[in-house]
Amino acid sequence: MPRKILITGGAGFIGSHLADLLLANGYQVRALDNLDPQIHGEDRRPPDYLDDEVELVIGDIRDGDVVRHCLHDVDAVFHFAARVGVGQSMYEVTDYTDVNNRGTTVLLECMIERAKRRPFDRLVVASSMSIYGEGLYQRPDGGLVGDALRSIEQLRLGRFDPSDHDGAPLTPLATPETKTPSLMSVYALSKYDQERLCLLIGNAYDIPAVALRFFNVYGPRQALSNPYSGVLAIFASRLLNGKPPLIFEDGAQQRDFVHVGDIAAACRLALEVDGAVGRSFNIGSGGVVTVRELAKRLARTIGVEIEPEITGQCRIGDVRHCFPDIGLAQTTMGFQPRMPIDAGMEELAGWLEGRIAIDRVAEAREALAVRSLTI
Ligand SMILES: NC(=O)c1ccc[n+]([C@@H]2O[C@H](COP(=O)([O-])OP(=O)(O)OC[C@H]3O[C@@H](n4cnc5c(N)ncnc54)[C@H](O)[C@@H]3O)[C@@H](O)[C@H]2O)c1
Repeated sequence: MPRKILITGGAGFIGSHLADLLLANGYQVRALDNLDPQIHGEDRRPPDYLDDEVELVIGDIRDGDVVRHCLHDVDAVFHFAARVGVGQSMYEVTDYTDVNNRGTTVLLECMIERAKRRPFDRLVVASSMSIYGEGLYQRPDGGLVGDALRSIEQLRLGRFDPSDHDGAPLTPLATPETKTPSLMSVYALSKYDQERLCLLIGNAYDIPAVALRFFNVYGPRQALSNPYSGVLAIFASRLLNGKPPLIFEDGAQQRDFVHVGDIAAACRLALEVDGAVGRSFNIGSGGVVTVRELAKRLARTIGVEIEPEITGQCRIGDVRHCFPDIGLAQTTMGFQPRMPIDAGMEELAGWLEGRIAIDRVAEAREALAVRSLTI
């Protein structure tokens, strides 16, 4: 008998790719998803990309009855259901906290109840790079700095790079899991809460849990009309509408963009490798790219001659540089990212062809500006 897996948020971008991978490897998949209109459109129709073999239960992660029903016969759970967006979380505070934090507690209480009758093989929770805040840095004298911050005053002066307490310049380094979290947005706080809750309850109730800290994920199926998350999808939506991608600060922010197929592969490893249990892992491509370079490369790949617009504005809650050290996932789980960014962008460009994207970037920007969340 193939094992049965529940993916909360399974109709979303990452969940649907994971569902495909699990189905291809003999698992049965159930998805619990409320088809959030920000992701799936106002008509809340199940997405065409969801495989017919996925049993889709339309319901809310905060609804204990639905969650209990979804859990009754599964062997493992991937917890992906969440509101996703750093900027938006800073003003939709109640909703982000309710879905992400309380939603996780509802899921966990139902899992505790079910585990008394029949144990779970695994709980894998989607954590995020956002929990680190600024990544790890190094001083000119070689000292490591794990608590870099940027003051509002320095951002006002257009000094985007963090410096050390004594003013020493800092060089960004790959961030390991051991870096102390620095929670700079409501979204980041909620993702850390989700991660800790799952590991803590997992340990207490013998539910083998793993947390995966995803970096910037991209690929086909990312919601194009959602201006609050998924920077490559947001840039693509602008380009498809003949407009320049809008870049905050000066575009020199360093990030790691990881293909969704590699994320799905990491999820499968977290499910199958026993050594992963009880731990948190960075999941990225292992590469680094600046946001400005990314926008340029995407325009080139899609074949439109539109330069990005560098706004010089900053969003409160944003970080300057953060990219992962993925060594722990490689050595512990055998994780090996396979999709180089250029090939991943080619694939994305193919998927974008003929697609319609509603550009809501101006709306999202205004929502931050009226609340003084941009500088
Ligand atoms: N995409 C990224 O770059 C990234 C990076 C780090 C972490 N993550 C995390 O990975 C997970 C999946 O992200 P994604 O990019 O696939 O996002 P997504 O928005 O495409 O998927 C999330 C899904 O959750 C569903 N959902 C939202 N609220 C719900 C609720 N109350 N009840 C049930 N379902 C609900 C949505 O309808 C959606 O289908 C999230 O937990 C996110 O925080 C994503």
